[in-house]
Amino acid sequence: MRQATVYIDSSALQYNLNRVKQLAPNAKIISMVKANAYGHGVKDCLAALASTDAFGVACLEEALEIRELGYSQPITLIEGIFSADEMAVVIANNLEVVVHHQLQLDWLHAHKDAYIAKNLKIWVKLNSGMNRLGFKVSEIIEIIHTLKAEGFTCVLAMHFANADTENHPLNEQQKNQFLDVKEACAPIMASCCNSAAIFKWPELNFDFVRPGIMLYGASPFADQSANDLDIKPVMTFTAEIIALNHIQAGESVGYGSTFVAKQDMDIAIVSIGYGDGYPRAFPKQNYVVIDGQTTPVVGRVAMDMIAIDVTGLNASLGTPVELWGKKRLVDAVAEANGTIGYELLCRMTHRPLRKQI
Ligand SMILES: Cc1ncc(COP(=O)(O)O)c(C=O)c1O
Repeated sequence: MRQATVYIDSSALQYNLNRVKQLAPNAKIISMVKANAYGHGVKDCLAALASTDAFGVACLEEALEIRELGYSQPITLIEGIFSADEMAVVIANNLEVVVHHQLQLDWLHAHKDAYIAKNLKIWVKLNSGMNRLGFKVSEIIEIIHTLKAEGFTCVLAMHFANADTENHPLNEQQKNQFLDVKEACAPIMASCCNSAAIFKWPELNFDFVRPGIMLYGASPFADQSANDLDIKPVMTFTAEIIALNHIQAGESVGYGSTFVAKQDMDIAIVSIGYGDGYPRAFPKQNYVVIDGQTTPVVGRVAMDMIAIDVTGLNASLGTPVELWGKKRLVDAVAEANGTIGYELLCRMTHRPLRKQI
């Protein structure tokens, strides 16, 4: 059988959840498991996250998957609902919605009594300058006052555009607007911290933190690695050597013959490609790990195969190759690929085998 395999390390996931608890001891934790738990597979992650206070997802379908797997914690739909008919399903499944535009408020009001009777929180989103979702400061205070007067339990919610960037001027603006609205609507529960903000601004943890990428052991920062942050990679992505070739100086490897050997070398072909979710474009040199040693990928990534330099290494048919994991961090592969770890993790395909360790 072709051995392209994603290993999910449950103890690493628990370790990272505990890191959130250490960093935000007084906040409840909403574990972000949208996009199939950042590509890790919701069903393989929820048991390790069982002690979380709540889950965060992007849509109803993702929430229902969690309920079908038997988990009863609160679940927040971070973009709210997309049509009026979804509200009945939300209430039947004890889900909580973000509201970020007037129509969503109307849909909510159509089910007001049932929502309040179930004691579900309503997450009112502030647009403090990211300009994706939310009500402006000028509108949100009145909206929250009205919702509270009607008997809704509100949480003021906000998302930073640049929490990963030191000293970005928008950070101050977003913080100040959030604090102003929080004060104007007091008493109100509040939530604004993703992974980067959890690391950087403990004073903003408030009632709920919303860690995503740090749970999976990848870094939200370009200049700090998972090791620097004391979080552990949860996913290890591996494949095996399926062919070995000795080539001579001047010979080329793979599609487009983009790699030409400068000297005689040993090349191994590994059973992984963009059909599995391994990225194709590498503006910078990319590497894999074999037998504890880091070695270059050579030539183009194909749909099912890559070639790696195994000159002088202990390599034979069936030798495992780490594409990313504990030794070759996904963030380093992403950097060579010109993207972020988030994207590589989320765009894993269903093709590799999945195993929990
Ligand atoms: C509203 C919201 N909160 C929290 C998160 C988690 O962010 P991160 O993965 O950077 O921790 C996200 C992710 O995109 C989000 O959209």
